[in-house]
Amino acid sequence: MDFHSPAGTNPIDQEQVVGQATVRIDGPLKTTGQARYAYERHDVVANQAYGYILGAAIPTGRITGIDLTDAREAPGVVAIVTHENVGKLGIGVFINTPPLGGPRIDHYHQAVAIVVAESFEQARAAAALIKIDYERDAGQFDLAAGKDTARLSDQQPASQVGDFEGAFASADVTLDQTYTTPDQSHAMMEPHATIATWEGDRVTLWTSQQVIAWATRDLATILGIPEENIRASSPYIGGGFGVKVTVMSDAVMAALAAREAGRPVRVALQRPLIANNTTHRGATIQRVRLGATQDGKLTAIGHEGWAGNLTWDGFCESVTIPTPSLYAGANRMTAMRLARLDLPEASSMRAPGETTGLMGLEIAMDELAEKLGMDPVELRIANDMDAEPGEDGLPFSTRHFVECLRTGAERFGWSQRNATPGTVREDNWLIGMGMASAIRGAAGRDSAARVRLERNGTLTVETDMTDIGTGSYTIIAQTAAEMMGLPLGRVDVRLGDSDFPATYGSIGQRGATSSTAAVFAACTKLRERIAQRLGLDSADATFSNGEILSGDSRVPLTEAVSDGAIEAEDKLVFEQDFYTSMSMQSFGAHFVEVAVDIDTGETRVRRMVAACAAGRILNPITARSQVIGAMTMGVGAALTEELAVDKRHGFFVNHDLASYEVPVHADIPHQEVIFVDDVDPAVSPTKAKGIGELGLTGVAPAIANAIYNATGIRVRDYPITLDKLIDRLPRNPG
Ligand code: MOS
Repeated sequence: MDFHSPAGTNPIDQEQVVGQATVRIDGPLKTTGQARYAYERHDVVANQAYGYILGAAIPTGRITGIDLTDAREAPGVVAIVTHENVGKLGIGVFINTPPLGGPRIDHYHQAVAIVVAESFEQARAAAALIKIDYERDAGQFDLAAGKDTARLSDQQPASQVGDFEGAFASADVTLDQTYTTPDQSHAMMEPHATIATWEGDRVTLWTSQQVIAWATRDLATILGIPEENIRASSPYIGGGFGVKVTVMSDAVMAALAAREAGRPVRVALQRPLIANNTTHRGATIQRVRLGATQDGKLTAIGHEGWAGNLTWDGFCESVTIPTPSLYAGANRMTAMRLARLDLPEASSMRAPGETTGLMGLEIAMDELAEKLGMDPVELRIANDMDAEPGEDGLPFSTRHFVECLRTGAERFGWSQRNATPGTVREDNWLIGMGMASAIRGAAGRDSAARVRLERNGTLTVETDMTDIGTGSYTIIAQTAAEMMGLPLGRVDVRLGDSDFPATYGSIGQRGATSSTAAVFAACTKLRERIAQRLGLDSADATFSNGEILSGDSRVPLTEAVSDGAIEAEDKLVFEQDFYTSMSMQSFGAHFVEVAVDIDTGETRVRRMVAACAAGRILNPITARSQVIGAMTMGVGAALTEELAVDKRHGFFVNHDLASYEVPVHADIPHQEVIFVDDVDPAVSPTKAKGIGELGLTGVAPAIANAIYNATGIRVRDYPITLDKLIDRLPRNPG
């Protein structure tokens, strides 16, 4: 099905099932432990051996010698794979670093060996007996130091609209500040894990992947085998946050080890290896310049960013992504530069671009509001727009940004805020309120699904879309049930398998839009086939309550399948001329109240309100869960999450969950999510935009702004840990 014009009225608009608050259909499997994650799939293949990955001990340089003598003789050892016995490996599309190091070492904890043994403990013990000699090169580990040699990014080209320099120079009120965001780790609960087995030249992986089609594509290139010789299965995934969008060392090394060992191998990437062995979110430096008239109209917006990566063509944490789409203003410039660093590879994490970009831009807006003596909400409303500025500026498919700002402010009680910082106190706590805008790209991507009306009248849905804890099973079942006029209980959803039609997977908050569009397309075709088999006209057929109604006829769906199941498969193709003629974004506004301990500088987030406009809300329960999870991640970005870089030895020091601190829901007593009415017929047939990542963007700066309101201390370097506040707190108890 081609999607080449805004969707008209269609069966989804009935909202009999779609749009209804539905608890996750996979919930009972999760809570009873029956949903098996990759490492728990004991039953899929017999005789599994255990793999243990050894990480490089230097950040950059060469292996000059490997001595496996003792390791090979250790109890239980089945096989050892290093660069010396594996042959040449390719590089996938999305990740630039070789998954197996040697002789060249690209980054600290890059895999250099996998030991296969009868037990995990034996594999671990043998790995400790491997002796490797290294020759270390000097490396560059500091973004601030690498900034001067940074190059303009190809991924996020610099842009100029109007005359930024002139407008900034002549503006009534200006702001010019620099903000920094640190390296961060995804810290999902389920570690990377894979069980791999070979049959001849075909490999099967039970693994944990957000995007099945990227995993098989990249693994094919790395192993040098045809993609159709790879099967990947990821029905349940315990979080990914961007680090599982393609194969990491667990999958590659498990496949290599299983081939070498001649038997299935099971690998879970050890937690202490994850931060340095896999990818992370790269640190950024941002300079924001804003110019405005006295009454708060932005006349100049400048946003420059610097990020780092291992290779010049690597992923760029492009902080300037949201800047053209958020505020009006005739004159603007953005520029994103990439520096080469010898740290582990930086890549996608939790709404890359928007999350970090707003961490700078949205503190800057708060600072500008204060300079103008203007309410921060009003400043944002005053700079709303219908279309992105400039000759190439696109209109928005829908934009309910101002409604988010107003509704959120109202529900939060923003009018109660005291604009003078450091003036509200309760006992030992300084109390503050802050807010920030949220925006995240939300366009769909081509995706396919297969649906089958079985003889017993149930509907089977098969697609390689994944559920990373987000609710995909449920919204896909709702979409199919709505399309076919069936109760939810008669829909059986099967996900996360490369044997199923390919989707864009769970990435960039595009999963819900893309996968439900695919199900819409497949169900549309199935409706036609069912009508055809019954000799009815599909054009005027209605599917409802397990029946098909057409003209005077009313036939149970089961009648259509009395001779056998009917199947349909289709791909929803987003026609690019139409699709790229609009800017498709989800919008939101975050409001936060914090309390800062006047003696210790500890910040507590007391309550949070998010107002979101994200197209049709397919399921208010799963959408809300996405947003409150994202808000919690935003608390981490604001207050605790930072990979500490050892700038001498070139690695992330706090590479475990004890020292890399992530908040949990229990840290935040009150979280409220409001959905602003927004149905977007241009984004997809289901008219739904992504919401998961939207919920994160803008949270951290809202907290930073609340801390400023509480204390009068403006911290521009995340995370806002107590050491950045403690010396500047008013030590005047009582
Ligand atoms: Mo997300 S960082 O696009 O998995």
